[in-house]
Parts: sequence; structure tokens; C-alpha cells
Amino acid sequence: MRKHPIIINPSLLAADFLDLEKSVREAVSSGVEMLHADVMDGVYVPNISFGFDIIGKIVSVSSVPVDVHMMTAAPWNYLDALKNVGAYSVTIHSDVGDVCTRRDTLARIRALEMKSAVALKPAYPAENVADVIDLCDMVLVMTVEPGFGGQKFMEDMIPKIREVRRVAERACVDISVQVDGGVNADNIGLCAEAGADNFVVGTAFFGAEDKEERYGELRAAAEKGASREARD
Ligand code: DX5
Ligand code: ZN
Repeated sequence: MRKHPIIINPSLLAADFLDLEKSVREAVSSGVEMLHADVMDGVYVPNISFGFDIIGKIVSVSSVPVDVHMMTAAPWNYLDALKNVGAYSVTIHSDVGDVCTRRDTLARIRALEMKSAVALKPAYPAENVADVIDLCDMVLVMTVEPGFGGQKFMEDMIPKIREVRRVAERACVDISVQVDGGVNADNIGLCAEAGADNFVVGTAFFGAEDKEERYGELRAAAEKGASREARD
């Protein structure tokens, strides 16, 4: 298995919406490798966040790629819009549409030269991505119920990270594994040890007074966990 670089990926849901540009610039200058934008439609999840015009504004002031997490019932309707605003990667959920629609959507994301990903809610096992993993650049293991920032990390999701890695190995595909929800400096190492490499951090990043210091803490803890994985 190829080693993927560690990516600290702040979730803009926890940013200052009254001064989004400042939040984006602060995050980028702290050293983060990616920014995470959560799109919620009030249908797939019981919350509404922001749409494509806002993502375009974020992209326009960000020098790092913007990763879009689509918590929407029909993500296939917005792929051109996501491409047009400059999304780097697009994640759809494993329980939207039927398998043919999901496969078609992931293939279209790739055809538009964006990275493709599928997310697993806490209730779904790693096996639920087996029928699409050959079309994925990344799998997202949710460590909270999607819909809101600031929730408690579900430690019982950690074995699923290893299971997703096994599903990918079985299919002979090389993917990145992302975790999202309640990630902080205390649990990021456990996620890295289990095989995650892309860490979405909302509250624990934007809640920090000193973002550069928090970035350093998160990265150090993730690297420590990843080195434990390497020894296993
Ligand atoms: C939850 C979102 C997350 C959220 C993470 O549905 O997908 O990206 O913003 O925020 P924290 O780190 O606060 O749980
Ligand atoms: Zn998210």
C-alpha cells in the first residue's frame, strides 16, 4: 500500500461566516493542506449550510485545494456547478441513489477532473463502499452523524478505518481515507494509526486562538499515530 501524505483539512462550517475570507486566509497561512466545505440541503441532513457561490468565493481566496462534502440527496445534479466554482474533490454519500447512479456520479466527477469520494455514515459498514471503490480516490469514514459541527467523536468508528483499507486492498485500489466529525488532537493519532490520512477538523481547528500552533499539534499527533501504524 502506498503511503498517502497526511492532510489537515479544516472544516469551514466552524469558520466565522461574517468574515469567511479572514478564516480562509488564517487557515491557509497556518499551514493546512486542504479546506473542507460542507454542503447540506436540509433533505439528506436536517440542516442547511451554504452553496456554490460561497464555495467559489472560498476557492478564490484559497491557495490550497477545496474539498466538497455533499450532504445532499441528489449530488449528481450539481457536478458541473462544483467544477465551475473550482472544487478539487467531491464526496457523495454511500446511501444516495442506487448503485448505478452512484457509479455514474463518481465516474462523472472524475471525467470533470475532480477527485471522487464516497462517505459512510456511522450506521453503514465498510462493505457498503465495495461496489464503488474502484471509482473512488478517497473514502470518508464519518465519526459523527452528518449534519452539524461540534459533536463528540465516535471512537467506535475507528475499526471501520482499517476495514475500509481492507476493502480497498481487496479491490486492488489505492485510496486516501478521510475522517470527519469531532476530530481533535487527542483522537487524530488513533485515526492515523488505523490508516486514515486526511483529517477534517472543524471546531478543534477554528476554536483555537493560535491556528498555526493548533495545526502543528494536529500534524504532530497524526504523524505519531501514522508511525505506530507503520510499525504494526
Ligand atoms: C458534519 C460535517 C463536518 C463538521 C466537522 O456533518 O461533515 O465536516 O463540520 O466539524 P467538527 O470537527 O466540529 O465535528
Ligand atoms: Zn464534512
